[in-house]
Amino acid sequence: MNNIDIPVITIDGPSGTGKGTVATALAARLGFHLLDSGALYRVLGVAVAHASIDLQDHEAIAQLARGLDIRFGQEGPGSVALAGTDISLEIRTDLGSDMASRVGAIPAAREALMDRQLAFRQPPGLVADGRDMGTVVFPAANPKIYLTASVEERAQRRYKQLLDKGIDAILRDLLQDLSERDERDSERSISPLKPADDAIVIDTTHLNEVEVMAQVMDLVQKALSAP
Ligand code: C5P
Repeated sequence: MNNIDIPVITIDGPSGTGKGTVATALAARLGFHLLDSGALYRVLGVAVAHASIDLQDHEAIAQLARGLDIRFGQEGPGSVALAGTDISLEIRTDLGSDMASRVGAIPAAREALMDRQLAFRQPPGLVADGRDMGTVVFPAANPKIYLTASVEERAQRRYKQLLDKGIDAILRDLLQDLSERDERDSERSISPLKPADDAIVIDTTHLNEVEVMAQVMDLVQKALSAP
């Protein structure tokens, strides 16, 4: 099968819209591969912090990105290892989120992660989750789905997730962190967070997971069965 004949479905949008959950469930249902591109940016961010590289040193960061030894799924579904060490929890910390969005604003770092992302396109198909999957990395994907929700609702969801895990959190701080990250992701000059022109936008503010999944499955089935 020619690489460009392999179907790709993109799920983009800001944090806390349920993108990851939808992408994981969709990939499992279709038996497709899954690209969690945010995890790549998180690993790079954590690796930059470990190596104490100055965030202004774009060339050093791009070089690090090109050489990263990242393995997904070795310690179970969703696990991420860097140079043989499991960093699944570390990349999900506030530092991991913050560093991911900082390295994500560096053009040379995005360029360095491009081929790695394209390599996930393997038969029988790919579900790619991120910010620029439909706009930049897989511009020919079909369907392109963009999930959104109000920042208040997204902060509330994150708050509940943390409490459920027994982690203390302050809603006001979560709201501020999300707003800052949204702003940085949307305002950056390269691959800013925005729906592709041909993306279908689903506002999940008042929808539960089952309702979102039903809408997504409907779109996907139509696209995959189209001649
Ligand atoms: O999706 P997730 O919240 O794990 O992404 C973490 C950060 O990585 C985002 O806030 C964004 O700055 C960056 N990112 C990106 N491009 C992607 C995926 C994530 O810039 N395709």
